[in-house]
Amino acid sequence: MALQPESAGSSLALEVVLPPGVSTALTTCPSISDTALKIAADQWEPPPLDLANASPARIRDFFLGGDKSFALDRDWCANATRLVASLPWIYRDERDFLHRAIRFAQRKRRIHRFLVIGAGLPFARPVHDDVLPHRDGLVVYAEPDEYVAAHLDLFTADLPQVSAVRGDFLEPGTILFADAVRALLRDDTPVCVVLTGVLETIADTDDATATLRCYTERLPAGSLVVATHATVDGLDTGDAADAALAERRQQLCRTYRNTAHQPPRHLRTTEQLQDILTGLRLVQPGITHTSAWHNPRPRPGIRPVESLCLAAVADVRKPRPRPITSGQTR
Ligand SMILES: C[S@@+](CC[C@H](N)C(=O)[O-])C[C@H]1O[C@@H](n2cnc3c(N)ncnc32)[C@H](O)[C@@H]1O
Repeated sequence: MALQPESAGSSLALEVVLPPGVSTALTTCPSISDTALKIAADQWEPPPLDLANASPARIRDFFLGGDKSFALDRDWCANATRLVASLPWIYRDERDFLHRAIRFAQRKRRIHRFLVIGAGLPFARPVHDDVLPHRDGLVVYAEPDEYVAAHLDLFTADLPQVSAVRGDFLEPGTILFADAVRALLRDDTPVCVVLTGVLETIADTDDATATLRCYTERLPAGSLVVATHATVDGLDTGDAADAALAERRQQLCRTYRNTAHQPPRHLRTTEQLQDILTGLRLVQPGITHTSAWHNPRPRPGIRPVESLCLAAVADVRKPRPRPITSGQTR
């Protein structure tokens, strides 16, 4: 079966009838070949262990009530909360959204396989707590940070339905070709890819769009993407309190420069997040603030824009393979 090169901007469906058991994920030609991704993955080296600086994963663990943080992480959190007092709530709103999105994937799309990229330290309210009660539940956590990955290795060792891989979102081959992820993608069963708190580490919107596409092209039809993104969208720049909050949120992004192996964070608008999700179909109500996405119990007296974080759930669409009819030529 010869694969055709992809035409600009769209995936081509091959005109073949697939034998039973062959994944339809193979029926689209990826914009970047597997070979190119594999070469890049072979050259990838995880960043060296850094315990001398605060870590975004431990910072989040602290704000979510976990016990994996060090004193230097908690110092960072104290300084950050002086800048943006509602920061603990911002993290909780984001985590609450993630759990609502997981329930959406399970109940509305019957998805029980999850690939969590930039897993962090998921010990406080982890994804797998929601997923494992289902008999088909499978979770793969992917992380480039050695400290985080070592923790993930330890606790996944006792959980046969949960695996951890070392990998970088920006080098898709490091994640897509890891054994545990291959197993997750082994047939046509849809997968939910979770990207919460990760896209803002990428400076260039086009890079984020192209990289995400490497993943979605290789996902089975019916898969989902769940994403969040830090923002100041929706704040009223004519209002002094909102303008000050937006400015302090910008400053907070820059302080990530002082955390282990992490670039500064980048805020994006709704339109920019939509660009990153190009080619996917947003689930209603589209991109919202985290606290507004299908939330039956929003915090009283708090505007959704104060979540300072956007949320999206999007369906991965695939062209249907067209059967060859007798006498048809290509
Ligand atoms: C702020 S934490 C978010 C953790 C988790 N996704 C959550 O929602 O709680 C960001 C995590 O992404 C990881 N990360 C940063 N850049 C990444 C990249 N290029 N690829 C994969 N993970 C990355 C960090 O090491 C960190 O563990």
